[in-house]
Amino acid sequence: PPCQCCSELTVSPAPQGLASVFSNRTSRKSASRSDSDGMADSEGYRNPTEVQMSQLVLPCHTNQRGELSVGQLLKWIDATACLSAERHAGCPCVTASMDDIYFEHTISVGQVVNIKAKVNRAFNSSMEVGIQVVSEDLCSEKQWCVCKALATFVAHRELSKVKLKPTMPRTEEEKTEHSVAAERRRMRLVYADTIKDLLANCVIQDDLESRDCSHMVPAEKTRVESVELVLPPHANHQGNTFGGQIMAWMENVATIAASRLCRAHPTLKAIEMFHFRGPSQVGDRLVLKAIVNNAFKHSMEVGVCVEAYRQEAETHRRHINSAFMTFVVLGADDQPQMLPWIRPQPGDGERRYREASARKKIRLDRKYIVSCKQAEMPLSVPWDPSNQVYLSYNNVSSLKMLVAKDDWVLSSESSQVADPTLPAFLPLSSQRSVELVQQVDEDDAIYHVISPALGGDPKPQDFIILASRRKPCDIGEPYVIALRSVTLPTHRETPEYRRGETVCSGFCFWREGDQLTKVSYYNQATPGVLKYVTTNVSGLSSEFYTTFKACEQFLLDNRNDLAPSLQTL
Ligand code: COA
Ligand code: ADP
Repeated sequence: PPCQCCSELTVSPAPQGLASVFSNRTSRKSASRSDSDGMADSEGYRNPTEVQMSQLVLPCHTNQRGELSVGQLLKWIDATACLSAERHAGCPCVTASMDDIYFEHTISVGQVVNIKAKVNRAFNSSMEVGIQVVSEDLCSEKQWCVCKALATFVAHRELSKVKLKPTMPRTEEEKTEHSVAAERRRMRLVYADTIKDLLANCVIQDDLESRDCSHMVPAEKTRVESVELVLPPHANHQGNTFGGQIMAWMENVATIAASRLCRAHPTLKAIEMFHFRGPSQVGDRLVLKAIVNNAFKHSMEVGVCVEAYRQEAETHRRHINSAFMTFVVLGADDQPQMLPWIRPQPGDGERRYREASARKKIRLDRKYIVSCKQAEMPLSVPWDPSNQVYLSYNNVSSLKMLVAKDDWVLSSESSQVADPTLPAFLPLSSQRSVELVQQVDEDDAIYHVISPALGGDPKPQDFIILASRRKPCDIGEPYVIALRSVTLPTHRETPEYRRGETVCSGFCFWREGDQLTKVSYYNQATPGVLKYVTTNVSGLSSEFYTTFKACEQFLLDNRNDLAPSLQTL
């Protein structure tokens, strides 16, 4: 079974020279994602940005299946999140984006929807808001998690650029979300380029030729176009259209397109990132267009795009948003039904058909890696360009989650501490060999590390390690080097070495003034690593000590070159 022990080693350089080993007994699952519900804790603490909304689902909120329409839910989510963002910003805010949402449950008429939102982190003018949606059955008192969402809001003042005050995370869950929010923001800002690259490189088998055309529904039959006039109830007091309203209109046309393919009442399962590219105001006309891009065995992708124009300039249309939604058709047994094949239009239709297949693959990879459910993840994940961005994200965020844990217990304190699996400072150790296999990008690289045979091991050990480094975003944040094992077809296990694996380990460098840098090494122990950790902690080995001494020397020798890295971005 996966090992349950994590250790943090902190070393302050000479003259103090003190090394402390902390351990944290935690399961891999709980180290991966905090499920705390953010309610007031036993001390009565409640996040100052937290906003709650509860709504009774009435027939006017439901679709033909008697379930809450996702469009209505998106409006409530957006409104709750916006109020939380505005509580922090102290001025009006607009929705910049809403990350992918997976809907785990539908909500029936008569149930209550409880929505809770709080600001995870404020950056310059933008904030990440975390939202949880829970449904409640009033008769049985049962509750279900419907979905989690992450939205970015931008504070907006008429005449000046806003610089938001920082958020002050207090609980372990808040510290985790605060720290990982920086990594999510990084991923969000390159999202469009990442998807474009992935689509360009994703090889999808083209099955169009081999299909029986007589049994296919022409995609053209599912095309929808609809216009909406933005009125005051659709906008905030400054006249900016609510993001939630636009998402609801998008869901409406997407549902019509999906229904035209299956001739039934489809259920929306997932929504891909909404990015609000530009504002729209009261008086704008919004044109919404949707079509089924591809139908798979049990699910279909519907694409929607939104353009805005003023009545006086109808030809000047602004692209406001595009999104992709995944629908299924549930049978009486609640299982997804088979869907008819679709025949795309030549040209753009065929391109979108292929891109939808590629997006499906990307979505599944991403869901698996980004959800950070490490208990379900193998120790080494195959590395390939289609999961590169997500694996780096997972690497850094797993380490940050470990760092944010606040129940570390001091297990020993000595001057003899170092770590044998340590890849980040491996070049410092004369005993280890490190080969750069691939420089993935400026901040991520893959290394092949060979560690000598230790204490009775018949063979040396080798690792294939993804190392991701991140500069601090704010004062008080550490410089991070995160490490995790990956598998590469070019570097398979060989009889010469024993293949070692690390699921989550790495370093944090805390700048504590000009003269002092605190180095913490974390290792979410796997069975292979635990032995070394325990021999070092008990003083039977001096591997930790040797490596941390080397690390200290490296920092001292390179202090001038390294100083800028430890400053905030
Ligand atoms: N996802 C999340 N945040 C984003 C983003 C995206 N896709 N694109 C930009 N941002 C953030 C930036 O990181 C920046 O945050 P920071 O100040 O904390 O560093 C902030 O938005 C402003 O970025 P900037 O580059 O100055 O502006 P921009 O020209 O990219 O504009 C918006 C960003 C969101 C202000 C602009 O696209 C907009 O007005 N969109 C419409 C918003 C709206 O009206 N929504 C309601 C429904 S239409
Ligand atoms: P792309 O064409 O690259 O997918 P767009 O932003 O142009 O990106 O469109 C997003 C989605 O909106 C498309 O995939 C398609 O499903 C839908 N769409 C775009 N244009 C139309 C249209 N004229 N009619 C119906 N649906 C459309």
